[in-house]
Amino acid sequence: MKPVKVGICGLGTVGGGTFNVLKRNAEEIARRAGRGIEVAQIATRHPNPKCDTGTTAITADIFDVVNNPEIDIVVELIGGYTLAKELVLKAIENGKHVVTANKALIAVHGNEIFAKACEKGVIVAFEASVAGGIPVIKAIREGLAGNRINWLAGIINGTGNFILTEMREKGRTFEDVLKEAQELGYAEADPTFDVEGIDAAHKLTILASIAFGIPLQFDKAYTEGIARLTTADVNYAEALSYRIKHLGVARRTDAGIELRVHPTLIPADRLIANVNGVMNAVMVNGDAVGSTLYYGAGAGMEPTASAVVADLVDVTRALTTDPNNRVPHLAFQPDSLSDHPILPISACESAYYLRIQAKDHPGVLAQVATILSERGINIESIMQKEAEVQDGLVPVILVTHRVVEQRIDDAIAALEALDDVADKVVRIRVEQLN
Ligand code: HSE
Repeated sequence: MKPVKVGICGLGTVGGGTFNVLKRNAEEIARRAGRGIEVAQIATRHPNPKCDTGTTAITADIFDVVNNPEIDIVVELIGGYTLAKELVLKAIENGKHVVTANKALIAVHGNEIFAKACEKGVIVAFEASVAGGIPVIKAIREGLAGNRINWLAGIINGTGNFILTEMREKGRTFEDVLKEAQELGYAEADPTFDVEGIDAAHKLTILASIAFGIPLQFDKAYTEGIARLTTADVNYAEALSYRIKHLGVARRTDAGIELRVHPTLIPADRLIANVNGVMNAVMVNGDAVGSTLYYGAGAGMEPTASAVVADLVDVTRALTTDPNNRVPHLAFQPDSLSDHPILPISACESAYYLRIQAKDHPGVLAQVATILSERGINIESIMQKEAEVQDGLVPVILVTHRVVEQRIDDAIAALEALDDVADKVVRIRVEQLN
């Protein structure tokens, strides 16, 4: 059978990796796909020194690829929202299947893109958009199709996890580790996407849609980054037998769906608390299967290429199937998506770590306890660091039981209004994940 012709747009970290993996594993890939997968054209403005493209046709214009009648599948690896959207919509219009690693594009414009793809009977595959090399989209969309998914929680930004790990284990500075993450090709073109949680929120939006059968709603995700985490909180968390991770959490409740990305204390003995460096991990809890965990490299040249190439194999296998019988883009049939609402963060429920800088004199703890108990907030553990009194202030650290966030907001406002409390109260959410 004739090989499938692929056009790669973008020959950066992931594009270069994709080209190399397709070339190196060509024979095995053909045996899996049932026919060869051949790169017929590449669009790039700069050669990639890690890629020997040989005689493959190269153009500087991505639309040459999209309009090339020879090409069956367009691989979009240029990133960003605007040009990438134009490219993908044009490819669909031209009847081409698309493989993309672009989580921003899918999270923000996915509903429109998938509708257009269904109309034209083409596939838009996006496994590489979430958690790099971990086939978590396939796992949820296909492997867990028998389940009602209750919740999922994941470390889904490699750069952020790399930074937190290096800071905790080696005492390195935030800026120093971020620079290394950029050099290693882990970070986004705009690294604030990594450290402010935007990249993780893109990925969480996608995971929540395929887990719960809801449209993509990135604008409703709550996002909090890691840039304001202090070494003090990392150390207090350790003392309480927790680890701080930058977690994306999506949970189905009767009232709606929680969709939130924020630093989170996790019990130190959970497997996911021990996922370090650029590695990602996603826990998915389904009613039939219970909790499952998917782990692997969340960023980088070949791990991400692994997911892109798997999508190419999937699309190649599906080329001959009836479009109506293919795996739906968002796991559920497009006309069966639910309108279960996304909850605002104030209506989400979590346990909380609070650090209060209190004046070191009698009665302060009683006031703190009163404020919390008046709002029905139960304290799980409390720690007062007398040895760390500075300028007459002592850190009081406590962990609460689970409570709706609005109550914690009220309690924090009341605590910050006390004469005996200096500074802002530090609040980090806590998840037991059991
Ligand atoms: N910047 C992303 C990360 C790349 O660090 O996880 C993979 O999506």
